[in-house]
Amino acid sequence: MPVPVGDARRGYVNAMFGRIARRYDLMNSLMTFGLDRGWRAAAVRVAAPPVSGLALDVGTGTGKLALRLAEEMPAGRVLAADFTVPMLRAGQPALRREGRGRVAFVAADALELPFPPDMFDCVVSAFAVRNLADVERGFREQARVAKPGGRVVCLELTTPPNPLFAGLFRVYFRGLVPRLGGLIAGDSEAYTYLPESVAQFLRPRALAAAMRAAGLERVRYRRLGFGAVALHIGAKPSPSEARLRQPSPRGRGSGSHRRQAVLEDR
Ligand SMILES: C[S@@+](CC[C@H](N)C(=O)[O-])C[C@H]1O[C@@H](n2cnc3c(N)ncnc32)[C@H](O)[C@@H]1O
Repeated sequence: MPVPVGDARRGYVNAMFGRIARRYDLMNSLMTFGLDRGWRAAAVRVAAPPVSGLALDVGTGTGKLALRLAEEMPAGRVLAADFTVPMLRAGQPALRREGRGRVAFVAADALELPFPPDMFDCVVSAFAVRNLADVERGFREQARVAKPGGRVVCLELTTPPNPLFAGLFRVYFRGLVPRLGGLIAGDSEAYTYLPESVAQFLRPRALAAAMRAAGLERVRYRRLGFGAVALHIGAKPSPSEARLRQPSPRGRGSGSHRRQAVLEDR
């Protein structure tokens, strides 16, 4: 199944998440055997949010990561942005229950964030960046709205590097998950898109290169979930660090990013 690219991607992804919104959380827990909670907790830890201050969760869906982040920021606030309103709506009950008035949903496109530069102490995303029509542009937006020195954290699915796990993962992900999606969410197409979008997405090393090309520095990653999840961390350079960086025109950035894609781990 070819995953739509460019402008077609935006509409496709938006409509798909709109259809599965009400069953999204249940499917996630079943599909990951509840491990998704721990992965989000790991993302929050590396984001190092300040006790007070402001954080942004991009592609928040039903707001799970935003709520987890707010727990670590007892005197802070979290904005949780997504362009699929039915996902935000499905997250409303939990937001009211657990948000303590410190988490706010915002309907917004990750490729055109409606925030001024240097606004957030940290910017996080979980399982969202893979769905963007332009990954590097998504990171440029995240870097733009982060404060200098602020962390940008990306949690995403990937293909395990171990061939044995990769094989098992493929059987599970391509064989079972679409059927489960048909049964639970009534939408096997959405859960066919899921493994396809992971297979066609940048491998962790190439994703790290995309983050660097977007202007982030100190980018590193580690794998979780038997290698099926990658947790990337980068930081927005301070103005003096940015001046020291070599100029990196867009073309050069994407070129090195493409070269890195060839070096990716499998
Ligand atoms: C797989 S869900 C992840 C939701 C949530 N972050 C989580 O941890 O479960 C991906 C989310 O990204 C959102 N998304 C995809 N592309 C987007 C874009 N261009 N702008 C804003 N949100 C987007 C979708 O609407 C969807 O809610």
